[in-house]
Amino acid sequence: MILVTGGAGYIGSHTTVVLQEAGYEVLVVDNLSNSDAGVMDRIEKITGKRPVFEEMDLVDAAKVDALFAKYSIEGIIHFAASKAVGESVQKPLLYYRNNLQSLMNLLDAMKKYEVKNIVFSSSCTVYGQPSEEYLPVTENAPIQVALSPYGNTKQICEEILRDSIYAHPELQGVALRYFNPVGAHPSALIGELPIGVPQNLMPFITQTGIGLRQGLKVFGGDYSTPDGTCIRDYIHVVDLAKAHLIALERYMKGNNKKGFEWFNLGTGTGSSVLEVIKSFEKMSGKQLAYEIVDRREGDIEQIWADTTIANEELGWKSELGLDEMTDSAWKWEKYYNEVLKPSISEA
Ligand code: UD1
Repeated sequence: MILVTGGAGYIGSHTTVVLQEAGYEVLVVDNLSNSDAGVMDRIEKITGKRPVFEEMDLVDAAKVDALFAKYSIEGIIHFAASKAVGESVQKPLLYYRNNLQSLMNLLDAMKKYEVKNIVFSSSCTVYGQPSEEYLPVTENAPIQVALSPYGNTKQICEEILRDSIYAHPELQGVALRYFNPVGAHPSALIGELPIGVPQNLMPFITQTGIGLRQGLKVFGGDYSTPDGTCIRDYIHVVDLAKAHLIALERYMKGNNKKGFEWFNLGTGTGSSVLEVIKSFEKMSGKQLAYEIVDRREGDIEQIWADTTIANEELGWKSELGLDEMTDSAWKWEKYYNEVLKPSISEA
């Protein structure tokens, strides 16, 4: 059985689907702080199989211990974490407690119950704004001082993992550094569900498209990029989910001890904010109301991944392009507003 923490969330739910489709039994643990249990019904619709679900907070060490005593866990994919950059600046202790304590509790339980493998959900935020010589970013680019407590928790968690694996050679772990995950499952039954006003680009675009937002503000049109807007490496969440299965199996199948590893998960292609908007307009057939405004504080200008190491070492490569990302994100937004939300409010 594979434990997927945060499996009711955005990337966790897509990864649960991929694991089940590959024949694994999945145990989802989630405290539902930023998700709802209804996603289990929709995962079941997609895969024909319901994951085992436990509502639980991983900050509670005794509960984590009891969880490992109850289930026979072979491997862990650890998504559960607080992830809002702005909130982390306001509530740093909440972020340090949630994100660090959860990982430490899992590692304690892994040692006690002899679970060897863990895949950790990390972020390209650890690279900050790389200097020109490090673009595109390889896994060997320098880590920079984190710009937020959230970013710092990702860096510290990677260090906790690295040090624990060094001290306990029976443990095996990998940090997957995501670039910008977007899009949704092709069934449109699961996708990203931001609470309140979205801070990220894609959900803001799709919510503007459906009429929930008046218009999109493009933060900055005077950057040193071809069209003046910021560049990111957007990656389809289904491609990302598949990388988790591959990373897990790298350690579970065969006895190849690797020590702590980390990989960049991106497409290797950067897209500007205006390119994302154009792709959305093409795929949805909607004209998007947007205006270019001042830069957003703390935004980096451009970053995209060099995926050579992940491609060669993991044998994984992203397959889906920007149009598939905007198209699936739009279909999910429509399904959510036209089918799911009305059915929830009727219930
Ligand atoms: C986000 C996360 C970061 C994470 C990274 C990779 C935030 C604030 N940051 O950063 O922690 O590591 O993804 O997953 O959540 N934009 C607009 N208008 C909007 C929203 C965004 O123009 O209304 C622009 C931004 O200026 C940026 C781009 O769109 O250039 C992407 O923004 P966003 O989706 O927030 O991602 P990141 O800033 O890359």
